[in-house]
Amino acid sequence: MDNKNTNGNDLEAAKQLQIINELKIGFDQEYEKTGQRKTYHIETFGCQMNSRDSEKISGILKQIGYEETESENADFVLYNTCTVRENANNRVYGRLGFLGTLKKNHPGMLIALCGCMMQEASAVEKIKNSYRFVDIIFGTHNIFKLAELLQIRLDSKRMVIDLWKDTDMIVESLPSERKCSFKAGVNIMFGCNNFCSYCIVPYVRGRERSRNAEDILEEIRKLAKDGVIEVMLLGQNVNSYGKNLATPMTFAKLLTEIEKIDGIERIRFMTSHPKDLSDELIEVLKGSKKICRHLHLPIQSGSTRLLALMNRRYTKESYLTLVDKLKAAVPDISLTTDIIVGFPGETEEDFLDTMDVVKKVGYDCAFTFIYSKRTGTPAATMENQVEEPVALERFDRLLKEIHLSSAKSAGKDEHTIAKVLVEEVNTQDPTLLTGRLSNNFLVHFPGDVKLIGTIVEVYLAESKGFYYMGCLPK
Ligand code: 5AD
Ligand code: SF4
Repeated sequence: MDNKNTNGNDLEAAKQLQIINELKIGFDQEYEKTGQRKTYHIETFGCQMNSRDSEKISGILKQIGYEETESENADFVLYNTCTVRENANNRVYGRLGFLGTLKKNHPGMLIALCGCMMQEASAVEKIKNSYRFVDIIFGTHNIFKLAELLQIRLDSKRMVIDLWKDTDMIVESLPSERKCSFKAGVNIMFGCNNFCSYCIVPYVRGRERSRNAEDILEEIRKLAKDGVIEVMLLGQNVNSYGKNLATPMTFAKLLTEIEKIDGIERIRFMTSHPKDLSDELIEVLKGSKKICRHLHLPIQSGSTRLLALMNRRYTKESYLTLVDKLKAAVPDISLTTDIIVGFPGETEEDFLDTMDVVKKVGYDCAFTFIYSKRTGTPAATMENQVEEPVALERFDRLLKEIHLSSAKSAGKDEHTIAKVLVEEVNTQDPTLLTGRLSNNFLVHFPGDVKLIGTIVEVYLAESKGFYYMGCLPK
């Protein structure tokens, strides 16, 4: 973001705060009359960007006077949608049908849809025609306007639709909720300029915009003061952070500055694009005491021919060289990845290149996806779309290979003592706590709930493949 926009952002924030306060007066009066707060429920689909956006939505609604509820039978229900793959859209349509039935028995219920799927004209058309009970539709660029859209809806009683194609605004100073008191996601950039040929994200999240470094640092300093010890820096392509700032700055430099903030003990980030991962960043990783020993480095395909068709701008060989450099600099680094199977034109030979990379890298974990055709992306009109049975068969083979590879690397820290950020009471067994190692592996161990939110040393007694069972050292 250029600094010239900062004033515009502040003015917008002031306007929205005023509307929030106007609504709050009405909501408080109603609460005095009825003794009951109106409730809201957010259903978040998709990635960590959406989770962070949902925290912003929550912050605004709580400030207005809404109370959050687990139940979808709430006064205000919001779906923060994802559209990265076709089945993400189908899930939303399925849930919406159910919500329409709930609304029939819940007078005054409001329904809002937002997020990536709403940035697609065809999805919005379908909702306007087939789901007329939806009250508010907004997109990824104007979440900060939620209070204003709500006010318009309450005054007009019509479906309110506000969708922006793109924006250069970054309004980050509104009230925002933090789901967790010791871990926080921090947006460092928005949008994506990469246009990988299969991916809808650049069309629905707009052009790449970095936040000013000083704003990010200020936010993290405040978080640290509030007791946050781990930050997750969020962006579609964090390695190109800062390129479009008035005074350009590298991601490596930003990390160095964050490292200096007292109280912050762990720094994570995602997602990294291999083509932009610089030697400067590797040096910073190597020397850092706070940056976690985990890197999510999506490969997508191991075939150089397909990588070119995907517009990824690296080759199988350059990716493997990068992995070698990373492992040489940070030997205990854990690598994870994303892989797409069945991209248009994928041959058995291309697929074997992907299997080869999995074998050579030894990922701790990989997220695998069957290629999904996204209308509007270049890959959707490519010839030789792969038949589903072929893609499924390759997908199964790939999963087996990944299991082999992660089984090999898992357990390498067995019988050592490691630092663990204690996150919660174990969801299966309430006598145990669950925490996370720097390399992102989970550890379950007996301990006092008071340890939640702190970093403790745990003996990793037994590897269970994807997690460890541990105990506090004597
Ligand atoms: N089909 C399948 N997977 C996709 N991804 C993105 N677009 C598609 C698509 N059209 C995967 C990529 C990306 C992850 C978030 O989702 O692997 O890294
Ligand atoms: Fe999509 Fe590629 Fe951007 Fe990632 S880098 S969001 S895969 S276009």
